[in-house]
Amino acid sequence: MEYFTIFQFQNKCMQVVHMSAECYPVAKVGGLGDVVGALPKYFNQTEGNDAIVVMPWVENKFTQTHRFVVDHQAVLPFGRRILQVKILRNHDLGYKLYMVQVEGFENRTQVYGYRNDAYHFIAFQVATLNWIHQWEHLPDVIHCHDFHTGFVPFYMSHSHQFPRLRNVPSIFTIHNGNYQGMMSWDVVDYFPWFDTWKLPLLKWNNTLNAMATAVKCAWRVTTVSPQYMKELMQDSSLSELFHQESQKCVGILNGIDNEEWNPETDKHLRHHYSVDTVSEGKRANKEEVCGHFHFDPELPLVSFIGRFAHQKGVDVLSDAVWRAINTYDAEMNFLIVGSGDPQLARGLEQMKRYSRGKFNCYIGYNEELARKVYAASDFLVMPSRFEPCGLNQFYALRYGTLPIVRTVGGLLDSIIDMNDENGCGIRFIQMNSNDILHALYRASELYLDKEKFATMRQHAMNQDFSWEKSIKQYTQLYKNAMP
Ligand code: GLC
Repeated sequence: MEYFTIFQFQNKCMQVVHMSAECYPVAKVGGLGDVVGALPKYFNQTEGNDAIVVMPWVENKFTQTHRFVVDHQAVLPFGRRILQVKILRNHDLGYKLYMVQVEGFENRTQVYGYRNDAYHFIAFQVATLNWIHQWEHLPDVIHCHDFHTGFVPFYMSHSHQFPRLRNVPSIFTIHNGNYQGMMSWDVVDYFPWFDTWKLPLLKWNNTLNAMATAVKCAWRVTTVSPQYMKELMQDSSLSELFHQESQKCVGILNGIDNEEWNPETDKHLRHHYSVDTVSEGKRANKEEVCGHFHFDPELPLVSFIGRFAHQKGVDVLSDAVWRAINTYDAEMNFLIVGSGDPQLARGLEQMKRYSRGKFNCYIGYNEELARKVYAASDFLVMPSRFEPCGLNQFYALRYGTLPIVRTVGGLLDSIIDMNDENGCGIRFIQMNSNDILHALYRASELYLDKEKFATMRQHAMNQDFSWEKSIKQYTQLYKNAMP
Protein backbone atom coordinates (compact mmCIF):
# COMPACT_ATOMS: atom_id res chain seq x y z
CA MET A 1 0.00 0.00 0.00
CA GLU A 2 2.74 2.37 1.02
CA TYR A 3 4.71 1.54 -2.11
CA PHE A 4 1.62 2.25 -4.17
CA THR A 5 1.20 5.73 -2.68
CA ILE A 6 4.83 6.61 -3.32
CA PHE A 7 4.56 5.32 -6.85
CA GLN A 8 1.44 7.33 -7.44
CA PHE A 9 3.05 10.47 -6.08
CA GLN A 10 6.04 10.12 -8.37
CA ASN A 11 3.82 9.98 -11.40
CA LYS A 12 1.40 12.61 -10.27
CA CYS A 13 0.47 15.18 -12.89
CA MET A 14 1.12 18.72 -11.84
CA GLN A 15 -0.64 21.99 -12.18
CA VAL A 16 1.78 24.91 -12.40
CA VAL A 17 0.92 28.59 -12.57
CA HIS A 18 3.54 30.78 -14.23
CA MET A 19 3.39 34.47 -13.38
CA SER A 20 5.33 36.82 -15.61
CA ALA A 21 5.29 40.26 -17.20
CA GLU A 22 6.19 38.81 -20.61
CA CYS A 23 5.20 35.76 -22.62
CA TYR A 24 5.94 35.17 -26.31
CA PRO A 25 3.99 35.61 -28.62
CA VAL A 26 1.66 37.71 -26.48
CA ALA A 27 4.11 40.36 -25.31
CA LYS A 28 7.88 40.08 -25.43
CA VAL A 29 10.70 42.50 -24.70
CA GLY A 30 13.60 40.06 -24.24
CA GLY A 31 14.53 36.45 -23.56
CA LEU A 32 12.17 36.31 -20.56
CA GLY A 33 9.25 36.30 -22.99
CA ASP A 34 10.72 33.42 -25.03
CA VAL A 35 11.28 31.30 -21.96
CA VAL A 36 7.87 31.87 -20.38
CA GLY A 37 6.23 31.16 -23.73
CA ALA A 38 8.07 27.86 -24.14
CA LEU A 39 8.09 26.40 -20.60
CA PRO A 40 4.35 25.60 -20.35
CA LYS A 41 4.24 24.31 -23.90
CA TYR A 42 6.93 21.69 -23.27
CA PHE A 43 5.85 20.95 -19.71
CA ASN A 44 2.34 20.13 -20.91
CA GLN A 45 3.69 17.56 -23.34
CA THR A 46 3.66 15.16 -20.42
CA GLU A 47 0.17 13.70 -20.34
CA GLY A 48 -1.95 15.28 -17.64
CA ASN A 49 0.41 18.15 -16.79
CA ASP A 50 -1.27 21.52 -16.80
CA ALA A 51 0.87 24.65 -16.80
CA ILE A 52 -0.82 27.99 -17.35
CA VAL A 53 0.48 31.53 -17.74
CA VAL A 54 -0.91 34.56 -15.91
CA MET A 55 0.33 37.96 -17.05
CA PRO A 56 -0.76 41.61 -17.02
CA TRP A 57 -2.99 42.77 -19.85
CA VAL A 58 -1.29 44.63 -22.71
CA GLU A 59 -3.20 46.34 -25.49
CA ASN A 60 -1.32 45.18 -28.61
CA LYS A 61 -1.64 43.34 -31.88
CA PHE A 62 -1.86 39.93 -30.22
CA THR A 63 -4.61 40.86 -27.78
CA GLN A 64 -6.54 42.72 -30.44
CA THR A 65 -6.51 39.85 -32.90
CA HIS A 66 -7.14 36.92 -30.53
CA ARG A 67 -10.31 35.93 -28.78
CA PHE A 68 -10.45 36.46 -25.03
CA VAL A 69 -13.29 35.54 -22.73
CA VAL A 70 -13.82 37.00 -19.29
CA ASP A 71 -13.03 34.23 -16.84
CA HIS A 72 -13.33 36.15 -13.60
CA GLN A 73 -14.33 39.59 -12.34
CA ALA A 74 -13.52 41.07 -8.96
CA VAL A 75 -12.76 44.23 -7.06
CA LEU A 76 -9.35 45.02 -5.66
CA PRO A 77 -8.97 47.29 -2.63
CA PHE A 78 -5.86 49.24 -3.59
CA GLY A 79 -4.64 51.91 -1.20
CA ARG A 80 -7.62 54.14 -0.66
CA ARG A 81 -9.34 53.07 -3.86
CA ILE A 82 -11.34 50.10 -5.03
CA LEU A 83 -10.36 48.95 -8.52
CA GLN A 84 -12.24 46.72 -10.93
CA VAL A 85 -10.34 43.63 -12.06
CA LYS A 86 -11.05 41.40 -15.03
CA ILE A 87 -9.19 38.19 -15.80
CA LEU A 88 -9.41 37.20 -19.47
CA ARG A 89 -8.68 33.79 -20.89
CA ASN A 90 -7.35 32.65 -24.26
CA HIS A 91 -6.74 29.13 -25.62
CA ASP A 92 -4.73 29.70 -28.80
CA LEU A 93 -1.30 28.82 -27.46
CA GLY A 94 -1.63 25.18 -26.46
CA TYR A 95 -1.86 26.15 -22.79
CA LYS A 96 -4.26 28.42 -20.97
CA LEU A 97 -3.27 32.05 -21.00
CA TYR A 98 -4.83 34.44 -18.49
CA MET A 99 -4.39 38.19 -18.70
CA VAL A 100 -5.17 40.43 -15.76
CA GLN A 101 -6.82 43.76 -16.52
CA VAL A 102 -6.75 46.23 -13.64
CA GLU A 103 -8.78 49.43 -13.80
CA GLY A 104 -6.54 52.39 -14.58
CA PHE A 105 -3.80 50.24 -16.12
CA GLU A 106 -5.80 48.58 -18.87
CA ASN A 107 -4.75 50.85 -21.76
CA ARG A 108 -1.04 50.09 -21.70
CA THR A 109 0.41 49.26 -25.09
CA GLN A 110 3.88 48.41 -23.73
CA VAL A 111 5.01 45.95 -21.08
CA TYR A 112 7.26 48.39 -19.20
CA GLY A 113 8.29 52.00 -19.15
CA TYR A 114 5.45 53.76 -17.35
CA ARG A 115 5.86 56.06 -14.38
CA ASN A 116 3.64 53.87 -12.22
CA ASP A 117 5.01 50.44 -13.24
CA ALA A 118 5.64 49.52 -9.61
CA TYR A 119 1.97 50.02 -8.69
CA HIS A 120 0.80 48.17 -11.74
CA PHE A 121 2.89 45.10 -10.95
CA ILE A 122 1.78 45.13 -7.32
CA ALA A 123 -1.88 45.30 -8.38
CA PHE A 124 -1.23 42.46 -10.82
CA GLN A 125 0.37 40.27 -8.14
CA VAL A 126 -2.34 40.87 -5.53
CA ALA A 127 -5.23 40.50 -8.00
CA THR A 128 -3.81 37.21 -9.28
CA LEU A 129 -3.39 35.75 -5.80
CA ASN A 130 -6.89 36.90 -4.76
CA TRP A 131 -8.22 34.95 -7.70
CA ILE A 132 -6.15 31.79 -7.19
CA HIS A 133 -6.89 31.81 -3.45
CA GLN A 134 -10.52 31.06 -4.12
CA TRP A 135 -9.96 28.18 -6.56
CA GLU A 136 -11.43 24.92 -5.38
CA HIS A 137 -8.26 22.99 -6.29
CA LEU A 138 -5.14 24.97 -5.60
CA PRO A 139 -2.19 24.65 -8.00
CA ASP A 140 0.77 22.42 -7.06
CA VAL A 141 3.28 25.17 -7.65
CA ILE A 142 3.31 28.91 -8.36
CA HIS A 143 6.32 29.78 -10.49
CA CYS A 144 7.28 33.47 -10.60
CA HIS A 145 9.64 35.09 -13.08
CA ASP A 146 11.83 38.14 -12.39
CA PHE A 147 11.24 40.97 -9.96
CA HIS A 148 7.84 42.03 -11.34
CA THR A 149 6.44 38.99 -9.56
CA GLY A 150 8.92 39.12 -6.67
CA PHE A 151 6.43 39.92 -3.91
CA VAL A 152 4.27 36.88 -4.67
CA PRO A 153 6.32 34.46 -2.49
CA PHE A 154 6.11 36.96 0.39
CA TYR A 155 2.34 37.42 0.06
CA MET A 156 1.80 33.66 -0.19
CA SER A 157 3.71 32.92 2.99
CA HIS A 158 3.04 36.00 5.09
CA SER A 159 -0.11 37.85 4.14
CA HIS A 160 -3.19 37.13 6.26
CA GLN A 161 -5.20 37.47 3.09
CA PHE A 162 -3.96 34.15 1.67
CA PRO A 163 -4.04 31.46 4.39
CA ARG A 164 -4.78 28.74 1.82
CA LEU A 165 -1.61 29.52 -0.13
CA ARG A 166 0.73 28.89 2.83
CA ASN A 167 1.35 25.31 1.74
CA VAL A 168 1.67 25.96 -1.97
CA PRO A 169 5.34 25.98 -3.01
CA SER A 170 6.58 29.18 -4.66
CA ILE A 171 9.43 29.06 -7.17
CA PHE A 172 11.26 32.21 -8.22
CA THR A 173 13.37 32.31 -11.38
CA ILE A 174 15.89 35.06 -12.06
CA HIS A 175 16.35 35.91 -15.73
CA ASN A 176 18.27 39.08 -15.03
CA GLY A 177 19.69 39.90 -11.60
CA ASN A 178 20.54 43.46 -12.55
CA TYR A 179 16.92 44.53 -12.45
CA GLN A 180 15.93 43.99 -8.84
CA GLY A 181 12.86 46.16 -8.42
CA MET A 182 14.10 48.63 -5.83
CA MET A 183 11.21 50.91 -4.99
CA SER A 184 10.10 53.55 -2.57
CA TRP A 185 8.56 52.41 0.69
CA ASP A 186 5.16 53.95 0.05
CA VAL A 187 4.22 51.06 -2.24
CA VAL A 188 3.91 48.95 0.93
CA ASP A 189 0.64 50.78 1.66
CA TYR A 190 -0.80 48.86 -1.28
CA PHE A 191 0.24 45.44 0.03
CA PRO A 192 -2.33 42.99 1.36
CA TRP A 193 -2.41 42.83 5.16
CA PHE A 194 0.70 41.40 6.89
CA ASP A 195 2.36 41.77 10.30
CA THR A 196 4.62 44.79 10.29
CA TRP A 197 7.36 42.96 12.17
CA LYS A 198 7.91 41.10 8.91
CA LEU A 199 8.99 44.29 7.15
CA PRO A 200 12.69 43.29 7.20
CA LEU A 201 11.87 40.51 4.75
CA LEU A 202 11.16 43.19 2.17
CA LYS A 203 14.45 45.02 2.34
CA TRP A 204 18.04 44.78 1.33
CA ASN A 205 20.59 47.51 2.13
CA ASN A 206 17.76 49.54 3.65
CA THR A 207 15.87 49.68 0.39
CA LEU A 208 12.69 47.91 -0.59
CA ASN A 209 13.89 45.27 -3.03
CA ALA A 210 11.48 42.93 -4.82
CA MET A 211 14.13 40.48 -5.97
CA ALA A 212 15.73 40.20 -2.53
CA THR A 213 12.27 39.62 -1.04
CA ALA A 214 11.69 36.78 -3.47
CA VAL A 215 15.08 35.21 -2.75
CA LYS A 216 14.25 35.25 0.97
CA CYS A 217 10.66 34.02 0.75
CA ALA A 218 10.41 31.67 -2.24
CA TRP A 219 10.63 27.95 -1.52
CA ARG A 220 13.13 27.52 -4.34
CA VAL A 221 15.18 30.05 -6.31
CA THR A 222 16.61 29.37 -9.73
CA THR A 223 18.74 31.18 -12.29
CA VAL A 224 18.69 30.38 -16.00
CA SER A 225 22.16 28.81 -15.94
CA PRO A 226 24.29 27.21 -13.20
CA GLN A 227 27.23 29.55 -13.82
CA TYR A 228 25.04 32.65 -13.38
CA MET A 229 24.01 31.42 -9.95
CA LYS A 230 27.71 31.13 -9.03
CA GLU A 231 28.32 34.65 -10.29
CA LEU A 232 25.42 36.05 -8.26
CA MET A 233 26.86 34.34 -5.18
CA GLN A 234 30.41 35.50 -5.77
CA ASP A 235 30.05 38.96 -7.12
CA SER A 236 26.76 40.85 -6.96
CA SER A 237 24.97 43.28 -4.70
CA LEU A 238 22.99 40.32 -3.35
CA SER A 239 25.90 37.86 -2.86
CA GLU A 240 25.52 37.68 0.89
CA LEU A 241 21.83 36.91 0.53
CA PHE A 242 22.42 34.18 -2.04
CA HIS A 243 24.95 32.64 0.32
CA GLN A 244 22.45 32.61 3.16
CA GLU A 245 19.83 31.01 0.93
CA SER A 246 22.17 28.76 -1.04
CA GLN A 247 20.41 25.53 0.05
CA LYS A 248 17.37 26.34 -2.03
CA CYS A 249 19.21 27.88 -4.99
CA VAL A 250 19.98 26.09 -8.24
CA GLY A 251 20.74 26.99 -11.87
CA ILE A 252 18.84 25.36 -14.73
CA LEU A 253 19.99 26.11 -18.26
CA ASN A 254 17.29 27.35 -20.65
CA GLY A 255 16.49 25.51 -23.83
CA ILE A 256 15.19 26.58 -27.21
CA ASP A 257 12.17 25.62 -29.23
CA ASN A 258 13.65 23.27 -31.83
CA GLU A 259 10.50 23.30 -33.92
CA GLU A 260 10.44 27.07 -34.11
CA TRP A 261 14.20 27.26 -34.76
CA ASN A 262 14.92 24.82 -37.54
CA PRO A 263 16.88 25.71 -40.71
CA GLU A 264 15.12 22.89 -42.54
CA THR A 265 11.69 24.46 -42.16
CA ASP A 266 12.21 28.10 -41.07
CA LYS A 267 9.60 30.06 -43.01
CA HIS A 268 11.81 33.14 -43.06
CA LEU A 269 14.52 31.41 -45.09
CA ARG A 270 14.62 31.04 -48.83
CA HIS A 271 17.31 28.33 -48.72
CA HIS A 272 16.64 25.50 -46.31
CA TYR A 273 19.27 23.05 -45.11
CA SER A 274 20.00 20.26 -42.65
CA VAL A 275 23.14 18.94 -41.01
CA ASP A 276 23.87 16.92 -44.17
CA THR A 277 23.56 19.91 -46.48
CA VAL A 278 24.95 22.58 -44.19
CA SER A 279 27.81 23.70 -46.45
CA GLU A 280 25.69 24.32 -49.55
CA GLY A 281 22.75 25.58 -47.52
CA LYS A 282 24.72 28.16 -45.64
CA ARG A 283 26.55 29.18 -48.78
CA ALA A 284 23.25 30.03 -50.51
CA ASN A 285 22.01 32.01 -47.51
CA LYS A 286 25.34 33.77 -47.23
CA GLU A 287 25.26 34.89 -50.84
CA GLU A 288 21.81 36.33 -50.34
CA VAL A 289 22.73 38.27 -47.19
CA CYS A 290 26.13 39.37 -48.51
CA GLY A 291 24.44 40.64 -51.67
CA HIS A 292 22.10 42.71 -49.57
CA PHE A 293 24.85 44.22 -47.41
CA HIS A 294 27.46 44.52 -50.21
CA PHE A 295 29.92 42.04 -48.71
CA ASP A 296 32.33 39.69 -50.43
CA PRO A 297 30.89 36.19 -49.74
CA GLU A 298 34.37 34.63 -49.92
CA LEU A 299 35.37 36.26 -46.64
CA PRO A 300 34.19 34.96 -43.28
CA LEU A 301 31.03 36.68 -42.04
CA VAL A 302 30.95 37.55 -38.33
CA SER A 303 27.64 38.85 -36.98
CA PHE A 304 26.14 40.25 -33.82
CA ILE A 305 22.38 40.07 -33.30
CA GLY A 306 20.71 41.63 -30.29
CA ARG A 307 19.96 44.58 -28.10
CA PHE A 308 22.32 47.52 -27.81
CA ALA A 309 22.32 47.36 -24.03
CA HIS A 310 25.33 47.74 -21.74
CA GLN A 311 24.98 44.05 -20.84
CA LYS A 312 25.53 42.91 -24.42
CA GLY A 313 28.85 44.72 -24.95
CA VAL A 314 28.26 46.18 -28.44
CA ASP A 315 30.26 49.26 -27.40
CA VAL A 316 33.44 47.21 -26.91
CA LEU A 317 32.65 45.06 -29.94
CA SER A 318 32.44 48.09 -32.22
CA ASP A 319 35.86 49.19 -31.00
CA ALA A 320 37.29 45.74 -31.78
CA VAL A 321 35.66 45.71 -35.23
CA TRP A 322 37.05 49.15 -35.99
CA ARG A 323 40.56 48.03 -35.05
CA ALA A 324 40.22 44.74 -36.93
CA ILE A 325 39.35 46.62 -40.13
CA ASN A 326 41.42 49.77 -39.87
CA THR A 327 44.49 48.69 -37.90
CA TYR A 328 44.85 45.03 -38.80
CA ASP A 329 43.24 45.06 -42.23
CA ALA A 330 41.37 41.87 -41.31
CA GLU A 331 40.00 39.81 -44.17
CA MET A 332 36.54 39.52 -42.59
CA ASN A 333 33.09 41.02 -42.87
CA PHE A 334 31.20 42.27 -39.86
CA LEU A 335 27.46 42.71 -39.54
CA ILE A 336 25.55 44.12 -36.57
CA VAL A 337 21.78 43.73 -36.39
CA GLY A 338 19.81 45.18 -33.51
CA SER A 339 18.51 48.21 -31.71
CA GLY A 340 18.69 49.99 -28.38
CA ASP A 341 20.97 52.79 -27.18
CA PRO A 342 20.47 55.53 -29.85
CA GLN A 343 23.96 56.96 -29.41
CA LEU A 344 25.53 53.60 -30.15
CA ALA A 345 23.25 53.15 -33.15
CA ARG A 346 24.38 56.52 -34.54
CA GLY A 347 28.01 55.59 -33.98
CA LEU A 348 27.57 52.34 -35.90
CA GLU A 349 25.88 54.12 -38.80
CA GLN A 350 28.87 56.45 -39.03
CA MET A 351 31.36 53.64 -38.79
CA LYS A 352 29.94 52.19 -42.01
CA ARG A 353 31.48 55.06 -43.93
CA TYR A 354 34.99 54.33 -42.74
CA SER A 355 35.18 50.59 -43.05
CA ARG A 356 35.83 49.97 -46.72
CA GLY A 357 32.82 47.75 -47.25
CA LYS A 358 33.77 45.36 -44.47
CA PHE A 359 31.28 46.54 -41.89
CA ASN A 360 27.54 47.04 -42.16
CA CYS A 361 24.64 47.27 -39.77
CA TYR A 362 20.88 47.16 -39.62
CA ILE A 363 19.32 49.22 -36.85
CA GLY A 364 15.96 47.87 -35.76
CA TYR A 365 14.15 44.73 -34.71
CA ASN A 366 13.50 42.48 -37.68
CA GLU A 367 12.78 38.82 -37.02
CA GLU A 368 13.03 37.78 -40.66
CA LEU A 369 16.40 39.43 -41.16
CA ALA A 370 17.70 37.98 -37.90
CA ARG A 371 16.82 34.46 -39.05
CA LYS A 372 18.52 35.05 -42.39
CA VAL A 373 21.63 36.33 -40.66
CA TYR A 374 21.80 33.27 -38.36
CA ALA A 375 21.63 31.10 -41.47
CA ALA A 376 24.16 33.15 -43.45
CA SER A 377 26.85 33.85 -40.87
CA ASP A 378 29.98 31.83 -40.23
CA PHE A 379 30.36 33.15 -36.69
CA LEU A 380 28.09 34.86 -34.16
CA VAL A 381 29.85 37.01 -31.59
CA MET A 382 28.46 37.56 -28.07
CA PRO A 383 30.73 39.82 -26.02
CA SER A 384 28.39 40.05 -23.01
CA ARG A 385 29.44 41.75 -19.78
CA PHE A 386 27.14 39.28 -18.04
CA GLU A 387 24.71 36.76 -19.49
CA PRO A 388 22.22 34.92 -17.25
CA CYS A 389 21.73 32.37 -20.02
CA GLY A 390 21.69 33.89 -23.49
CA LEU A 391 19.64 32.24 -26.21
CA ASN A 392 21.38 33.48 -29.36
CA GLN A 393 24.28 31.04 -28.94
CA PHE A 394 21.75 28.18 -29.09
CA TYR A 395 20.07 29.61 -32.20
CA ALA A 396 23.50 30.00 -33.81
CA LEU A 397 24.49 26.37 -33.12
CA ARG A 398 21.20 25.17 -34.51
CA TYR A 399 21.89 27.07 -37.76
CA GLY A 400 25.49 25.82 -38.01
CA THR A 401 26.99 29.16 -37.02
CA LEU A 402 29.92 28.99 -34.61
CA PRO A 403 29.53 31.17 -31.50
CA ILE A 404 32.36 33.42 -30.31
CA VAL A 405 31.50 34.07 -26.66
CA ARG A 406 32.81 35.65 -23.52
CA THR A 407 33.08 33.14 -20.69
CA VAL A 408 30.22 34.36 -18.50
CA GLY A 409 26.94 32.89 -17.27
CA GLY A 410 25.09 30.64 -19.67
CA LEU A 411 27.67 31.27 -22.41
CA LEU A 412 30.30 29.55 -20.30
CA ASP A 413 27.90 26.70 -19.54
CA SER A 414 26.98 26.05 -23.15
CA ILE A 415 29.92 26.74 -25.47
CA ILE A 416 33.05 24.55 -25.50
CA ASP A 417 36.15 26.08 -27.07
CA MET A 418 37.42 24.71 -30.41
CA ASN A 419 40.66 23.57 -28.78
CA ASP A 420 38.83 21.26 -26.39
CA GLU A 421 37.19 17.95 -27.07
CA ASN A 422 33.79 18.38 -28.75
CA GLY A 423 34.39 22.11 -29.11
CA CYS A 424 32.13 24.07 -31.40
CA GLY A 425 32.88 27.68 -30.61
CA ILE A 426 35.51 30.17 -29.56
CA ARG A 427 35.78 31.54 -26.06
CA PHE A 428 37.49 34.62 -24.67
CA ILE A 429 37.75 35.77 -21.08
CA GLN A 430 38.31 39.48 -20.63
CA MET A 431 35.90 42.22 -21.59
CA ASN A 432 38.16 44.32 -23.80
CA SER A 433 38.79 44.78 -27.50
CA ASN A 434 42.19 43.00 -27.33
CA ASP A 435 40.56 39.77 -26.24
CA ILE A 436 37.82 40.10 -28.83
CA LEU A 437 40.43 40.75 -31.52
CA HIS A 438 42.33 37.66 -30.51
CA ALA A 439 39.13 35.60 -30.71
CA LEU A 440 38.45 37.05 -34.19
CA TYR A 441 41.96 36.15 -35.25
CA ARG A 442 41.35 32.56 -34.14
CA ALA A 443 38.08 32.58 -36.08
CA SER A 444 39.80 33.70 -39.28
CA GLU A 445 42.44 30.95 -38.91
CA LEU A 446 39.72 28.37 -38.36
CA TYR A 447 37.84 29.58 -41.44
CA LEU A 448 40.91 28.81 -43.56
CA ASP A 449 41.10 25.25 -42.23
CA LYS A 450 38.15 24.13 -44.36
CA GLU A 451 38.02 20.58 -43.07
CA LYS A 452 38.03 21.44 -39.38
CA PHE A 453 35.56 24.25 -39.97
CA ALA A 454 33.12 21.92 -41.75
CA THR A 455 33.37 19.31 -38.99
CA MET A 456 32.74 21.90 -36.30
CA ARG A 457 29.68 23.17 -38.12
CA GLN A 458 28.19 19.72 -38.25
CA HIS A 459 29.05 19.18 -34.65
CA ALA A 460 27.38 22.48 -33.73
CA MET A 461 24.18 21.44 -35.45
CA ASN A 462 24.14 18.13 -33.62
CA GLN A 463 24.17 19.72 -30.16
CA ASP A 464 21.02 19.33 -28.14
CA PHE A 465 19.84 22.37 -26.22
CA SER A 466 16.17 21.55 -26.47
CA TRP A 467 13.59 22.36 -23.81
CA GLU A 468 13.00 18.67 -23.15
CA LYS A 469 16.20 18.54 -21.10
CA SER A 470 15.47 21.60 -18.98
CA ILE A 471 11.87 20.54 -18.40
CA LYS A 472 13.08 17.35 -16.72
CA GLN A 473 15.05 19.44 -14.26
CA TYR A 474 12.15 21.82 -13.57
CA THR A 475 9.82 18.86 -13.03
CA GLN A 476 12.23 17.41 -10.49
CA LEU A 477 12.53 20.79 -8.79
CA TYR A 478 8.75 21.12 -8.50
CA LYS A 479 8.47 17.60 -7.10
CA ASN A 480 11.17 18.20 -4.51
CA ALA A 481 9.50 21.43 -3.44
CA MET A 482 6.05 19.89 -3.01
CA PRO A 483 5.15 19.18 0.63
C1 GLC B 1 17.33 37.60 -19.94
C2 GLC B 1 18.84 37.35 -19.91
C3 GLC B 1 19.26 36.28 -20.89
C4 GLC B 1 18.37 35.04 -20.73
C5 GLC B 1 16.91 35.43 -20.83
C6 GLC B 1 15.96 34.25 -20.66
O1 GLC B 1 16.99 38.27 -21.11
O2 GLC B 1 19.56 38.55 -20.17
O3 GLC B 1 20.60 35.92 -20.68
O4 GLC B 1 18.68 34.11 -21.72
O5 GLC B 1 16.60 36.39 -19.86
O6 GLC B 1 16.10 33.59 -19.45
